[in-house]
Amino acid sequence: MRVIRTIAEMQAICRTVHREDKTIGLVPTMGALHAGHLSLVRSARSQNDAVVVSIFVNPKQFGPNEDFGKYPRNFEQDCAMLDQTGVDFVFAPSAEEMYPEGGTTYVHVEGVSEKLDGRSRPGHFKGVTTVVAKLFHIIPADHAYFGQKDAAQVAVLRKMVRDQNFDIELVVCPIVREKDGLAMSSRNAYLNEAERKQALVLHRALLRIQTLADTGESNAATLAQVGREVIAEEPAAKLDYLEIVDSDTLDPIADIGKGALVAVAASIGSTRLIDNLVLHGAGSARGPQTSN
Ligand code: PAF
Repeated sequence: MRVIRTIAEMQAICRTVHREDKTIGLVPTMGALHAGHLSLVRSARSQNDAVVVSIFVNPKQFGPNEDFGKYPRNFEQDCAMLDQTGVDFVFAPSAEEMYPEGGTTYVHVEGVSEKLDGRSRPGHFKGVTTVVAKLFHIIPADHAYFGQKDAAQVAVLRKMVRDQNFDIELVVCPIVREKDGLAMSSRNAYLNEAERKQALVLHRALLRIQTLADTGESNAATLAQVGREVIAEEPAAKLDYLEIVDSDTLDPIADIGKGALVAVAASIGSTRLIDNLVLHGAGSARGPQTSN
């Protein structure tokens, strides 16, 4: 496994790989890797000739009062895990390499970027799409791998790929959960022992919605209300949103008849967590996905 620090070298490697008629799988990450990231890497490994994992804590997707400064950084440990998982290249540029002084070009997907997390974290998705578009230009992969846990991010990136004609197939991998149901996230590292237990309320709310949908309830407002009541049972949880939306447009829907995304965001102490569940229509709810 080779660690690449410059854009020029990464682009040269990709040109060589493609000249040999080999495929490239890209897994964009911000590091602090966990089993969820490794499931993306394993999918990439099984579907491509060369696998590139990018590790870059992207300053542009954090708001001024968010956790950019304290975001966990474990580069050596991440590299050891990636090496063991069969990754060929780690692309780990500096902030100066990615954003040289004077850059003024952004990629912004209007509309969908302002929903769910985009509403609570203004500018977040503009930062995500800008960095992912740059990564797609630097590493013109055949497939790029993202986790379903960031369902709103997936919707925004799908639209960016369509609108901007990126010749890259997005592969979305299921949420990986701890044994007790907590969705894996690099931010789980912020939780103390008590908060770690309190955080389970997000998964509990999704399970309650799933159970109700399984009995045939298809009214989105009723299902969402039940989920919000579960969150309210945990005094430590501060709900940001629990919404039932179309998984492409992220617009609210009235009935889950044709399928829906249930998305939740809540803070436990100072840690903001997100989770979601895909309902496949009234009476046939599936997920939250099982633990690995
Ligand atoms: O999902 C993430 O870790 C980040 O948003 C991404 C896609 C790597 C862009 O910085």
